[in-house]
Order: sequence, then structure tokens, then C-alpha cells
Amino acid sequence: MTLTLSVVGCGYLGVTHAACMSSLGFTVVGVDIDPEKVALLQAGKLPFYEPGLDTLLEQELKTGRLSFTTDFSLVKDADIHFVCVGTPQVTDGLAADLTYVKSAVATIAPYLKDGSLVVGKSTVPVGTAQALRDELAKIAPQADLAWNPEFLREGFAVEDTLTPNRLVVGVANDRAEEILKEVYEPVIALGTPWIRADLPTSELVKVAANSFLATKISFINAMAEVCEAAGGDVTVLAKAIGYDPRIGNRFLQAGIGFGGGCLPKDVRAFMARAEELGAMQALEFLREIDAINLRARQRVIDIVRKVLSEDLTQYKIAVLGATFKPDSDDVRDSPALDISVQLHAAGAEVVIHDPQGIEPARKRFPNLKYSEVIEDAIKDADLILHLTEWKEYRQIDPAGISSLVKGKIIIDGRNMLDRTLWRSAGWKFHALGRTD
Ligand code: UDX
Repeated sequence: MTLTLSVVGCGYLGVTHAACMSSLGFTVVGVDIDPEKVALLQAGKLPFYEPGLDTLLEQELKTGRLSFTTDFSLVKDADIHFVCVGTPQVTDGLAADLTYVKSAVATIAPYLKDGSLVVGKSTVPVGTAQALRDELAKIAPQADLAWNPEFLREGFAVEDTLTPNRLVVGVANDRAEEILKEVYEPVIALGTPWIRADLPTSELVKVAANSFLATKISFINAMAEVCEAAGGDVTVLAKAIGYDPRIGNRFLQAGIGFGGGCLPKDVRAFMARAEELGAMQALEFLREIDAINLRARQRVIDIVRKVLSEDLTQYKIAVLGATFKPDSDDVRDSPALDISVQLHAAGAEVVIHDPQGIEPARKRFPNLKYSEVIEDAIKDADLILHLTEWKEYRQIDPAGISSLVKGKIIIDGRNMLDRTLWRSAGWKFHALGRTD
């Protein structure tokens, strides 16, 4: 008999998981407390931008296997309940806010049928899964709880869900593992490595992976700082060390650093949890990772002041990119937007372009100026900042836009533009970690 699934929380993770699981042939009900979001999803529309997910959502709704609701009682037929709610940073500290995870489990508890399995996918501080399992044993002893961390990247959400580079399950017994193996059977059949762990290890795998990625980015950004001081070129350095397979060339792109809804908050929540556990010394280095990351934003502003003037009040700066990375409309903790806000606060006239992120950025910072058209954003600008590496920006013809701007100066905050091309068109070209 085919399993019936519920997905609790229809954000980025939840919608992707629900649509992907439906595409594997399961009946899936997605539940969320937000009626607007649910109405959009029922109509086949995504509340965010994610390449490929829009068509998958439409396709799966048509099969009749996938549905969305605000009525939590409709999870009652499900054999497995995937908890996909957010765990944002608390407003008054570094820790993760577990309100939504706790309330999701408490809300579905009365509807859990005999033998059903609750599977957490949200990123949580180690120890959360065991605490939730203990709680469930009291309020819904007929059900069990497991953890199955998610490693999807925005922009590659569907691919990362259907063809992940590994599946990690945190389980307390064989039965929970067997149920999860049944769900992921088509993914396992592709040769995907399957890792069974205990509950705490499965939670730690996720934050360890994100901390490692953050460390790699901050490492190369620290090298960029040294290159700037020593007259070196971090892009050449990254290429050279990346050929060593023990190091690898991915995630060594120096620039304005990491942002988004995961890396920054996961690193901070990991430190907060380690402190509670008395293991802070082991993660002391993550403080430095966070500091290097935030410093990269400041370094761009320093270059702007150096090439324009300490006083920015008379200058127009065009910013290319608002999202935390390309192929996403996510502006959470976006380095590009943070830099824009700081330049605006320093008195510069800032106009931001982004292919997908203008509306979410405007919602957060309504006082900034935005433009849907690159040419309008850069018109009469004294300087252009390239802060999110959308493909569109690499296609700009520097000679073609020369007559639009007041000053032919560009700072590449992502080390992705063709420096020779820009310079040969008469532009002053600056980048992080490259002194030449
Ligand atoms: C990340 C993890 O990659 C994913 O496995 C996890 O499930 C969620 O968090 P995501 O937030 O989508 O995914 O973004 P990612 O592609 O990891 O990029 C994070 C940030 O690092 C972006 O702001 C990106 O611009 C920056 N970055 C990435 C760099 O500055 N340099 C690099 O070399 C790589």
C-alpha cells in the first residue's frame, strides 16, 4: 500500500518536500497556519521564487495526489508527518527559536494514527529531537519520532531533494529506519548514500555541514584580506589551492560573504547550543567565522569611500543584486542588501536592481530606491557595485553602458566579472582580495 504523507509547514523546505514526495507517487497533504500562503499554493502559485519548483507544483496538483490546507485535522490519514517549519534566530540572542517546531508537533499530536512516524526536517539545536520524542511519548504514545535533516540549497531545491548527495536519518529504533527507507526507496535506488545515525548525531550533521561551508567561505575571505594587505590575488590563490582534492575548489569564491536563511543563523545557533552544553571552547572559532563574514561587507564600503570620497552624500551608487545569492528571491540576511542599507545611511543615493528580489527587498527596506531595469538603475551613477552574481550581470557590455553612467567605476563584490573586459572598455575595476 502506498504511504500517505503530511508536510507540516509550507515554506521553502515544506513546499519543495511536498511537491517532490508527490512526484515520487505518494499522497501528500501540506498544512500551514498561513491562509494566504495556502490559497496561493492551492492555486498552483509559489509564494517565493525557485527555479523548476513552480512547474513541479502545478504538475503534482493536477495528479490529485498533492493538496494544501490550513486544517491540521486533515493530517490524520498520514503514515508519516514531515515537520518542515522554520527555526529562525531569536530576536534577543544567537539561539534558534523553537516555537514553531514545538507547536507543529503539539498541533498534530491529537491526529496521529497508530504506528505513525513524525519526522523532523527543520534545522534544530542538538537535543531537540530527543526532547520532542519524550514529549510525544506522553501526549501521543501511539506515534514515534525520527529526524531527517535537509541539505537543500536555494536555487537547486528540487534537484537536492530528489537527487541528494546523501540521506541522513536519526532514529531510535529499526522500525523508524525501515519506514524512512520505504519513503526514500526511489532515491536510494539511485545509489544515494544512506546514513543511519542516532537522534543527536543527525541534528549535529546538519549544523556541522553548514558550519564547515561557512568556514570555507570565511577562510577564503580571510585570505582575501591578506591578499589585499600583501598585494596578492585571492582568485588565483583559490584556484591554486582548490586543485588539491583534499581542499577542493567549491565554496572558495571570495567576496562579500555568506547570507541567507541558513548559514548565518545556523552558525550562531550552533555556538549558542555549544555554550549551553559546556562545549563552547570547541566552537570558539565560529565567532571568528561570523566576524570575517561581516567584515567582508565593511570592506566593500571601505573601497567605495576610498574611490569616491569619505563623504558619500553627493554620490549615486547603483547596486546590482539584492538577494543573498542568484536564482533566489531570498533577501534574508543578504550581504548585498546590508551593504546597500549602510551606504544609504551614509547619505549616498542608492538604486538597487535585482532580477527577482526587488519586491521582498522593498518589503524589508521601503526607503531604498529600486529599479526593474539595469539601465535605469545605473543611469548617472558615480559607481556600480556588483553584489549578487546573477547571470544577467555577466552579460552586461561595459562599453555599451559607458555613456549611461557618470563615473566608470565598478566594484565586483563577488569576483565573477571579467576584469579585462571592463578595463579594456575604460572602466576602473576594483574587487575584494585583488590589489591589481
Ligand atoms: C545552505 C547550504 O548550502 C545547504 O546545504 C543548507 O541546506 C542550507 O544552507 P543556501 O542557504 O541555499 O544553502 O546557500 P549556499 O548556496 O550554501 O550559499 C550560502 C551563501 O554563501 C550565499 O550568500 C553565497 O553567496 C555565499 N557563498 C557561497 C560565497 O560567498 N562563496 C562561495 O564560495 C559559496
